[in-house]
Amino acid sequence: MKRLTTALILFTSLVCKADGLCNRGMVQKFDDVIPSANLTWTPCFDEFTCSKLEVPLDYSNRSLGTTSVAFMKLAGKNATIQSPSIVLVPGGPGGSGIQLLEEYRSLMGQMFGEQYNFVSFDPRGVNNSGLNLDCFRGNAEARLAFNRLHSTGATNVSSESLQEQYYSASIYSEWCNEAVEKDLPHGYYVTTPAVAQDLLTFVEAEATLAGQSASDAKLWAYGISYGTVIGATFASLFPDRVGRMVLDGVFDAEQYYDNNWRDVADQMDETIEKFSSLCHSAGPDRCSFWGPSPANITARMDQIILELQNHPVAVSKAQSQGLPTKATYSDLKALLFNNFYSPRSGFPVIAKVLHQLENGNASALADIPNGLGITSDAGFVTRCVDSYRRNKLTTIEEFKSYVEYMVSTSKYTGDIYPIIVETILCRSFRPQLPDSMVIRNPISGVQKPTSFPILLASNTVDPGTPLKSAQKLSSQFPGSVLLLQEGVGVSQI
Ligand SMILES: *[C@@H]1O[C@H](CO)[C@@H](O)[C@H](O)[C@H]1NC(C)=O
Ligand SMILES: *[C@@H]1O[C@H](CO)[C@@H](O)[C@H](O)[C@H]1NC(C)=O
Ligand SMILES: *[C@@H]1O[C@H](CO)[C@@H](O)[C@H](O)[C@H]1NC(C)=O
Ligand SMILES: *[C@@H]1O[C@H](CO)[C@@H](O)[C@H](O)[C@H]1NC(C)=O
Ligand SMILES: *[C@@H]1O[C@H](CO)[C@@H](O)[C@H](O)[C@H]1NC(C)=O
Ligand SMILES: *[C@@H]1O[C@H](CO)[C@@H](O)[C@H](O)[C@H]1NC(C)=O
Ligand SMILES: *[C@@H]1O[C@H](CO)[C@@H](O)[C@H](O)[C@H]1NC(C)=O
Repeated sequence: MKRLTTALILFTSLVCKADGLCNRGMVQKFDDVIPSANLTWTPCFDEFTCSKLEVPLDYSNRSLGTTSVAFMKLAGKNATIQSPSIVLVPGGPGGSGIQLLEEYRSLMGQMFGEQYNFVSFDPRGVNNSGLNLDCFRGNAEARLAFNRLHSTGATNVSSESLQEQYYSASIYSEWCNEAVEKDLPHGYYVTTPAVAQDLLTFVEAEATLAGQSASDAKLWAYGISYGTVIGATFASLFPDRVGRMVLDGVFDAEQYYDNNWRDVADQMDETIEKFSSLCHSAGPDRCSFWGPSPANITARMDQIILELQNHPVAVSKAQSQGLPTKATYSDLKALLFNNFYSPRSGFPVIAKVLHQLENGNASALADIPNGLGITSDAGFVTRCVDSYRRNKLTTIEEFKSYVEYMVSTSKYTGDIYPIIVETILCRSFRPQLPDSMVIRNPISGVQKPTSFPILLASNTVDPGTPLKSAQKLSSQFPGSVLLLQEGVGVSQI
C-alpha cells in the first residue's frame, strides 16, 4: 500500500513537470506564492507548504512599507496543525533555509520526532525573500574583474597582496551602494535584528492562524552556524518568547557584530592533526596519503605546502576545461579550508590531492575550484550592514594586525582565512540605517533570562565554529546547557 502511494505521488509530479498540468494550487516556484500579511500556506514542491509573509521593512516606522519573507513547512508524519513548528535557522549569512529544508527533509523527523512540523525560511535579503541585492546588477564582467583584482589568494603570497586586497575592497561597497540607489532603495534593510523580528512576526502569525494568542506565541528553533547568531539575537531581544532553542555550531555573536572574526580558526590546526592521525589509523588502503606515523603525514604535508609556496606548478591542460593553468600555494590552502568542514567527505579529497602532488601531479589540485571570489552578495551585505557602526576592521593597520593574528592562530589556514571570510569587504560600507535596524546592547541573557533555557551544541574539534564560541555564548545565557559531541567538523545538521 505504501509503495503504491509513493508510485502515485511520483506519477503525479512527473505529469506535473512534463506538461505543466499541475495539481490545482500546487506551486513549483516561490514566484507563484502570493505574499500575505497573515500566514496563508499553499501546497508547494510536492510535499511542502509555502508562504510568503509580508513584514515591515522597518519595525519602528511602518509607513516605510513591507517586504516579504519566504517560509516553507514540512509536516511531521504524526504532526497536527496544533503541533509546534520547529524553525530551522540557516547558516551563512546568505544561506537559504528553503534549500536546507528541501535537502534535509528526510532527516527532520528522525532528528526531532515526527510529532512536529518543520519550518525554514530565507532570511530577508536571501534568494526567495525580498531585498535580494545583486551588487553588480547582472554585470558578470564587472564581478569577474573585481574578483580578479581582489580575491588574489593568500594575504601574503606577494609583498603587495595585503595592500591590494585592502584597497580594492572599497570598490565592492561602491558597487553595492550604486545597486541600492538604482535598483533597491531598502536593499540594506537586511540586518540580523530585523531577521529576528521577522521570526517573531512569523510565530505570532502562526499562533493567530491556529486561533491562539499572538502575544503569548513562542519560537521553537534549531539554529546552525550563523543561524546561532540569529537565535542568540532573538533570545537577547525577546527573552520571554523563547519556547525551545537549540544552537548548534556556535558562531561568536559579539565577534560577528564587530566584524572581528578572530576565533573562527581557533581549532583549524587541531583539525589538521586529526586529519593526520585519522589517515594514519585508516591505513594505506583507505587513506591515499598514508604514512608510517601521524607525524610523518604532517611532515610530508608541510613539505608540499612549502614547495608550492616557493613556486606554483604549471599545468598545461586542466582536465575540466582543457586550458593552461597553474596550481598554487593559495589553491592548496583553500583546498584545506574547504574540505575541513565536513571531514567524512573532505578528508579523502585532501588525501587524494596531497598524494598526487607528492607524485608530481598537480592537475587534481588545479582542477578543483578554490572557491575564492564573490559570487553572491546577500551574505556580505548582511554582514556589512550588521557591523557598520562597530566595525573593528577598517584601517590598513587593523587589517594587518588581523592577518597577523590569524596567522598566529592557524599555521595552516591563517594566511588564506582573511580572503576567504572577506570581512575586509565591509570596510567602507556606510549604509543609512535607522537605530531600530542595528544591535545596540550586547547579546546576552544576563539582564533578562530566556523563558526556557537554551541548549548549545558543539563538536569537540570544530574548524569553523570552535568550541570556544559555544562556551562563551553559554556564559552569556545563564541556565543554558552545552552539549558536547566527541567529533571533528562543523555542525552539518
Ligand atoms: C489573510 O489576509 C487576507 C488578505 O491579506 C484576507 O483576505 C484573509 O481573510 C486573511 N485570513 C485570515 C485567516 O485572517
Ligand atoms: C518614517 O518613514 C517616512 C517615509 O520614509 C518618513 O517620512 C518619516 O519621517 C519616518 N518617520 C520616522 C519617525 O522616522
Ligand atoms: C534559490 O531559489 C531557487 C528557486 O526556488 C532555487 O532553484 C535555487 O537553488 C535557490 N538558490 C539557493 C542558493 O538557495
Ligand atoms: C505516531 O504516533 C503513534 C501514536 O503515538 C506512534 O505509535 C507511532 O510510532 C508514531 N509514528 C512515528 C513515525 O513517529
Ligand atoms: C607569510 O606567511 C608566512 C607563514 O606564516 C611567513 O613565514 C612569511 O614571513 C609571511 N610573509 C610576509 C611577507 O608577511
Ligand atoms: C615518511 O615515511 C616514509 C616511509 O617510511 C619515509 O620514506 C619518509 O622519509 C618519511 N618522511 C618524512 C618527512 O618523515
Ligand atoms: C594526475 O591526476 C589526474 C587527476 O586526478 C589523473 O586523472 C591523471 O591520470 C594523473 N596523471 C598521472 C600522470 O598520474
